[in-house]
Amino acid sequence: MDIFRIEGPVRLSGSVKVKGSKNAALPIMAAMLLAPGKSTLKSVPYLSDITVCSELLNSLGCKVAREQNGDITIDSTDVNNPVGDYEIVRKMRASICILGPLLARCRKAQVSMPGGCAIGDRPVDIHLRGLRELGAQISIKNGYIVAEAPNGLTGSEIFLGGPFGSTVLGTANVLSAAVLAKGSTIIESAACEPEITDLANCLTKMGAKIKGIGSPHLYIEGVNELYPLEYQVIADRIEAGTFMAAAAITRGELKIENCRLVDLMAVVDKLRNVGVTVESADHGCVVTHKGTIKTADITTQPYPGFPTDLQAQFMALLALGDGNSVIIEKIFPDRYMHVAELNRMAANLRKEGPVVIIAGVEKLMAAPVMASDLRASAALVLAAMAAEGTTIVNRVYHIDRGYEKIEERLNPLGAKIVRENV
Ligand code: EPU
Repeated sequence: MDIFRIEGPVRLSGSVKVKGSKNAALPIMAAMLLAPGKSTLKSVPYLSDITVCSELLNSLGCKVAREQNGDITIDSTDVNNPVGDYEIVRKMRASICILGPLLARCRKAQVSMPGGCAIGDRPVDIHLRGLRELGAQISIKNGYIVAEAPNGLTGSEIFLGGPFGSTVLGTANVLSAAVLAKGSTIIESAACEPEITDLANCLTKMGAKIKGIGSPHLYIEGVNELYPLEYQVIADRIEAGTFMAAAAITRGELKIENCRLVDLMAVVDKLRNVGVTVESADHGCVVTHKGTIKTADITTQPYPGFPTDLQAQFMALLALGDGNSVIIEKIFPDRYMHVAELNRMAANLRKEGPVVIIAGVEKLMAAPVMASDLRASAALVLAAMAAEGTTIVNRVYHIDRGYEKIEERLNPLGAKIVRENV
């Protein structure tokens, strides 16, 4: 198992390029099931989650390959085994995003029910409700979601809101199924995250008829077939936001290339509030920070609000704030496994239900810590780069799920991160 040995404090400076978005790539890869033939996806990052998704699509009958130029090709001419096996799905919850496309393509699908994870229970009831509205019969048998629509799916009016807002992958599933349903579908309270916009743009390029892209109201006119395509996945806004927080916490100066500031306005706003300079530059931005971090209150919300996927990284930053800050997690109220680990590094954080009260400290100190999930591990890496001493981050396989070779990209900027296999 790999660990990171991280020496701090360091000051990051230089230029870093953001990779393609994992969370856009996963539902787009699944959507390739809808168009028999060979499609090519560009800017798909080299991540373990992408490898699992490729394994999953191969198990259904597709042929997925990483070409020498880095493109991913997916040949979905033969989808002959519409079963998302437990052994693959258990490695990655996002595997659920094959359910809608498989059902639309094969009129039946069995997908292992994803369990909870370190960030919470993560139910899929809204996904199933939406697919039932399209006419699917769905039951749960032996841990599998068994879905059938022997006569095909039929357009409908569907509300996708839930207790914590809409659902990103639920919207991906229902949208990807509705594009091949008979007649028209209205999705109300659709997720508006840029990753869903990217999926909808991709489906449109495949021949789907979708209006309202980027809004919570999607209007879909079902078509008989979709066509393979070549498509470039958007830049990863969460990786970009993580680099922004890295520049701030190390009092550094980073040019972040391939980053769409328009997808990150809530994050840029918070950075500016705490005294960090963010200036737009060609296809990206420059983030600079000197001096103290001011306090801030952050509430995570669906897009365009502050993303839950940057909550942990900003907690690490505010841990060094010059007073008290508050974070309220409104998407995954239990997504706080990093709190105890940051406290091991001399942060002063107190969790009260979905709220964390942060009493800023002057400095963080190195400690051995445990990565619990993808974004929590990014927060620990940020904290370690600012902390005094050598931090050991255990279980870095979590970070490899969402950040491509993070140490090889941070070290040229001044970080001192060594990966060791123990
Ligand atoms: N929810 C339900 N019922 C459902 C689905 C969701 O109650 O059927 C609840 C969830 O429990 C949560 C809220 O709705 O409280 C939002 O969850 P959502 O379904 O939007 O999450 P997701 O689609 O499973 C994606 C990202 C997550 C990101 C969330 C929120 C991918 C592969 N995953 O998950 O990314 O945190 O949206 O933005 O796109 C990550 O990259 O580290 C990550 C966890």
